[in-house]
Amino acid sequence: MEKYLINPNQKIAEINKDIYGSFSEHLGRCIYEGLYVGEDSKIPNLNGMRKDVVKALKEMGLPVLRWPGGCFADEYHWKDGIGDKASRKKMINTHWGGVVEDNSFGTHEYFELCRQLGCDSYVNGNVGSGSVREMSEWVEYMTFDGVSSMAELREKYGSKAPWKLKYFGVGNENWGCGGNMDPEYYGCLFKRYNTYCRDYKAGEHIQRIACGPNGSDYHWTREVMDKVKHHANGIALHYYTVPTGNWNHKGSATDFDLNEYISTICKAYKMEELITNHLAVMDSINPQRWVKLVVDEWGTWYDVEPGTNPGFLYQQSTMRDAIVAALTLNIFNKHADRILMCNIAQTVNVLQSVILTDGKKMVKTPTYHVFKLFKEHQNNTLLGSYITTDMIKSKNDGNREFPQLIESASIDDNGVIYSTIANTSATKSAKIKCQIADRKVKSIKAEIITGECHEKNDFENTDNVKIEDFDGFRKLSDGFTATLPACSVVKFTVE
Ligand code: AHR
Repeated sequence: MEKYLINPNQKIAEINKDIYGSFSEHLGRCIYEGLYVGEDSKIPNLNGMRKDVVKALKEMGLPVLRWPGGCFADEYHWKDGIGDKASRKKMINTHWGGVVEDNSFGTHEYFELCRQLGCDSYVNGNVGSGSVREMSEWVEYMTFDGVSSMAELREKYGSKAPWKLKYFGVGNENWGCGGNMDPEYYGCLFKRYNTYCRDYKAGEHIQRIACGPNGSDYHWTREVMDKVKHHANGIALHYYTVPTGNWNHKGSATDFDLNEYISTICKAYKMEELITNHLAVMDSINPQRWVKLVVDEWGTWYDVEPGTNPGFLYQQSTMRDAIVAALTLNIFNKHADRILMCNIAQTVNVLQSVILTDGKKMVKTPTYHVFKLFKEHQNNTLLGSYITTDMIKSKNDGNREFPQLIESASIDDNGVIYSTIANTSATKSAKIKCQIADRKVKSIKAEIITGECHEKNDFENTDNVKIEDFDGFRKLSDGFTATLPACSVVKFTVE
């Protein structure tokens, strides 16, 4: 029996709701078809946005949406995406499949999507191939409420009022697709570009996000932090889970053996080490901790579904992905004192999406259900908690170990405690005894997402994996005991 302790007296930090964010790029069928179908589509839409997808994302509690990339951001010229749609410039999407981008989804459409979703905005600017002036004017166009050429242009194209821009990314992956830069050079460019991105509204600071490291590139973090520490609010780490560790043969999303399952979880758990180590580097440069960590691209990355465009990064999703999502969100929660925002890659039809579409059909992936299950953590206070657990060894990773049980716990303003636990073992259940310090438990409700690790939802079986009530627990006066099935994610709500 594993021991699980939750301490409601140890209130650590508010869990920023934006940890539960998502990322939507002009890539494959994410924006076009996935989110936006245009006003004239037969697919039910409101001002061009798919009604079914918007409804599902609202129910999931999406707090913030990053756009327009990704690699696409550093070749996006925002003025091509405003004005009369028929005459908007067409461009080649060179990163993603070489397809024609007709720019019919641009700045106005993005803010309309955020309005319908009721979520906050995170726009990523172009450092790689754009000018300082272009970036400066974009921020003016989006946020200035006064007399200026950009504000007049915005009004001319349909929006007299400015929008609220919460986060602005100054470049993306500038160590790679965003210009192949060295960290010192990028750090200087960040300062230059960022200087001309003005805060136009008194008291409303647009939070600036600097391009952070690729995985374990601590040198990048150190050098960029050194340059941006007085200017940036966040520095953005990117880390993808590639089961085989080989980018030429990443592994199938649905056809994997137990060793590959274990290796996937082991590699996803690396997020804990990356966050801890990058925070240590950040602390060494900025002990005052002004700059927070952002993880604005994370998730599993497999070989594309057979027969689909390799440039579209379309993959299926199984219970394995649900476990990756649950353990990662628990890790983010546990670092809530230092993490500003996270964005899973991506929202629809790309990589570890929460939603898949096929024409007018839509399906929620197992990952969607994890985000929905965890949504009560948003803006709650993280509590001190600890669980004993077996460790699982990954043969494919030199016997590296990761915990079988990964948890986090939070409390809301009414004193209700939420605990989410991932049982990462595909084969073994786990018995736990939870004790909550200084608490008389009145009632407990539990919900579960579980299944054999290959189980998935598809367009024929949309509800194979879903959230269900869970009764495999017993209430105690100061906690509960429970048996967590293999490959499961459970949430306990304790009053
Ligand atoms: O999410 C897909 C791509 O992965 C993004 O465009 C890029 O930033 C990263 O390399």
